[in-house]
Amino acid sequence: MSSGLIPEHIIEAVLKHHDIVDVIGKYVHLSKLGRNMKGLCPFHSEKSPSFNVNPEKQMFKCFGCGKGGNVIRFIQEIEGYTFGEAMRHLAEEANIAFAWEQQSPEQAERQQEKEQIVGGHELAAKLYHHFLYNYAEGKPALDYLHSRGFTDTLIDTFQIGFAPPRWDTLAQLLEKRGFPLPLMEKGALVTARSSGGGYVDKFRNRVMFPIRDARGSVIAFAGRTLGNEQPKYLNSPETSLFRKSRVLYNLHTARAEIKRTNQIVVFEGYADVIKAWSAGVHNAVATMGTALTEEHALLMRRSAERVVLCYDGDDAGQSAAYKSLGLLEKAGLDIKVAVLPNKLDADDYVETFGADRFRNEIIEGAVPREKFRLLHLRRNFNMQDNEAKLRYVRTAIREVIAGIESPTGREHYLKELASEFSAISSFETMKQETNEIREQEQKKRGNGDNNDISWNTVRNDGTDSQPLPKLKPAYDKAERHLLYVMLHDKEVTALVQERLGDAFNDEAHAALAAYLYAFYAQGFEPDASRYMASLQDDRLERLASSILMTESDQGINDQVIEDYLRQIHKYRELQAIERLTEERIAREKSGDIIGAARIELEILALKGKLQKR
Ligand code: UTP
Ligand code: MN
Repeated sequence: MSSGLIPEHIIEAVLKHHDIVDVIGKYVHLSKLGRNMKGLCPFHSEKSPSFNVNPEKQMFKCFGCGKGGNVIRFIQEIEGYTFGEAMRHLAEEANIAFAWEQQSPEQAERQQEKEQIVGGHELAAKLYHHFLYNYAEGKPALDYLHSRGFTDTLIDTFQIGFAPPRWDTLAQLLEKRGFPLPLMEKGALVTARSSGGGYVDKFRNRVMFPIRDARGSVIAFAGRTLGNEQPKYLNSPETSLFRKSRVLYNLHTARAEIKRTNQIVVFEGYADVIKAWSAGVHNAVATMGTALTEEHALLMRRSAERVVLCYDGDDAGQSAAYKSLGLLEKAGLDIKVAVLPNKLDADDYVETFGADRFRNEIIEGAVPREKFRLLHLRRNFNMQDNEAKLRYVRTAIREVIAGIESPTGREHYLKELASEFSAISSFETMKQETNEIREQEQKKRGNGDNNDISWNTVRNDGTDSQPLPKLKPAYDKAERHLLYVMLHDKEVTALVQERLGDAFNDEAHAALAAYLYAFYAQGFEPDASRYMASLQDDRLERLASSILMTESDQGINDQVIEDYLRQIHKYRELQAIERLTEERIAREKSGDIIGAARIELEILALKGKLQKR
């Protein structure tokens, strides 16, 4: 049994330190369901939760996509890490020394570079923040922030700072603290002078907003001008650490509240997030001035099921929100849109109307995505004109209402539309039109060709083309159940080892048993999670976690175990009889009567043995 280069005691310490519910809870919103915790699987798109975490067994298992294992496996899957990398990550978080790795020199160098770039950013954030309060040159920036309603508490919470209007304040400090400047240039904190050598600061004379990754390390900055110079915000360019399509501003700080509310509020600007925070909305994030990406959506979906988009009230903001709906839906998020009036952004709104109204009217008043689609569509029609109204009604039905899956949902919006436009058309006519469009669409799509994700196909409309699950032979249940008991009981394992050894009918079951014999032989006590770490094979780990999560020790006693052993042997012998019978027939056909008779004797012996069982 090998765990690579990682010593057993470290694996043990890591598993002991991390509770799987806490670790997974950072990525997935979990709710309690009996003894298990349940949530939406972070590894595949689904709308109803099939992802299970069992705190007792320290295991996770998704019944949709089949992924499962212990906490190390989870980190491997979710972060795309190797076993060693996942161990390093978990050990680091637990403050367990992890100097076991034999990294290649390049790996070690890259790792060290990353750490130094983060170190440089952390130092820069401190310098900027310090400069804002403690230097005369920081005064105008502090006044500017105060004038915009950023209190000192807010400034501290978000570690807002000021990059001095000099050439190389940061460069000098970095050098003094031993950060190699060429590397800091790679990290986009400084720039090499074009002539004369040396380095200058990348950000000068700007209000600085540190940008952190999901683990809370500063990996980039956004610098705002104090006046109207362009660009208004200067963001760090993409580096090996900073990928705009994957980073959400404030995610690290907001995570606890996102989990608590199962909701994430998305803004367009840094200032909006900070002002929303001051207004009591603590589950807010923002993109980096770029459009939302699929990666962002999946990142959000890992921590919450619901999202509220609160984009600027101007046309650009509303269109951006509209365009994001599709990919958020695809990620399985439940979407609402908080609409800001009069081309305001969230920051303006809080300043103008106050925190209470912002929370109660804007955030609480967010409308479901269909409603938002209708509102958005409306902008293109001149509602003074009857013909335009009619065109709006028809477009609304075709583009929005006909596409709503739930009949109650369709009915709701049709009623709303009918009551507003009763002078144009009746509810009945609108309903008929909706149904016609739906029928046409269904014909167009043909049968069975729906884009639903197969795991959660709860619909049963006769077009379900999923293959029937293969019927498992009877021994399968016996072997799984037996393995379950063996994972929790050394004595039963010893018995099975003696009576069955590796004679499981399913090869993977035989492998799991062999690993388990070895595990106990090393002196380990039953510990499913620890045992899983010894497997280090996706397929086996998956199988083990499936056994752990679906079987139980209910109704187990010596008699049942005997029965299982019998069933397993029996299947083996039946298979052998079948094989031998075929051979006997073949020999008879070829005229080898003596051979056939000898085989018949073997068959009889086996049958006799079977009867005794
Ligand atoms: P906005 O122009 O709406 O700015 O840009 P804002 O958030 O209201 O900022 P304040 O209130 O004027 O300070 C929204 C976001 O677009 C990105 C930033 O991420 C900003 O928060 N942006 C904007 C840039 O990256 N560069 C720019 O020059 C402008
Ligand atoms: Mn603003």
